[in-house]
Amino acid sequence: MKKLISLIVAGIVLVMSFNVRAESEMTDKKVLVAYFSATGVTAKVAERLAQVTAADLFEIKPAKPYTKKDLDWHNPKSRSSVEMKDGSSRPEIAEKVTNMSQYDVIFVGFPIWWYREPAIIDTFIESYNFEGKTIVPFATSGMSGIGDSGENMQKLVPDARVATGKRFADRVTGDELQSWAKEWL
Ligand SMILES: Cc1cc2nc3c(=O)[nH]c(=O)nc-3n(C[C@H](O)[C@H](O)[C@H](O)COP(=O)(O)O)c2cc1C
Repeated sequence: MKKLISLIVAGIVLVMSFNVRAESEMTDKKVLVAYFSATGVTAKVAERLAQVTAADLFEIKPAKPYTKKDLDWHNPKSRSSVEMKDGSSRPEIAEKVTNMSQYDVIFVGFPIWWYREPAIIDTFIESYNFEGKTIVPFATSGMSGIGDSGENMQKLVPDARVATGKRFADRVTGDELQSWAKEWL
């Protein structure tokens, strides 16, 4: 009986270690998940995506955090409304990714603001040399799709390959994220 139990335990350990290897060997590429999240929804999706792709995780933090008032889209004078109306607006980011050159694939996550990527994502995209790299946008939103975000970002980094990307519901599972992300890994 004891022997049988240890055999079963050994079997379980073997299967588990195989799964862990399978996950970490999904790609030879070095992957980064970078995200901006004003109210925490995109942050959760980004964490899940980083976990299932064995990627490094980086939060794009605004130098000046957005207050509730700043995010009021009903007010045309709120900070977010003003920034999003001005295509040249580039809100400052608090910290930079160390050694961006090591990454092959960069997933860039954000909330949809006014049907597109927030202006701070444009700041991020313009802050590095992405030549030869693949950038894959992903977003959360109330209900809008990712729209022209990928095309807008591609215009800012002509040397990189920017995918159209995808909008996810906040409850998207790790499995769903993994099968979507596979295409670029
Ligand atoms: C300034 C602003 C503009 C927004 N514009 C849209 C929009 O155009 N379409 C949409 O479906 N949701 C819009 N939303 C809702 C957010 O995209 C949504 O709540 C998102 O999941 C928040 O993500 P976060 O918690 O990571 O910031 C907007 C939110 C804000 C604050």
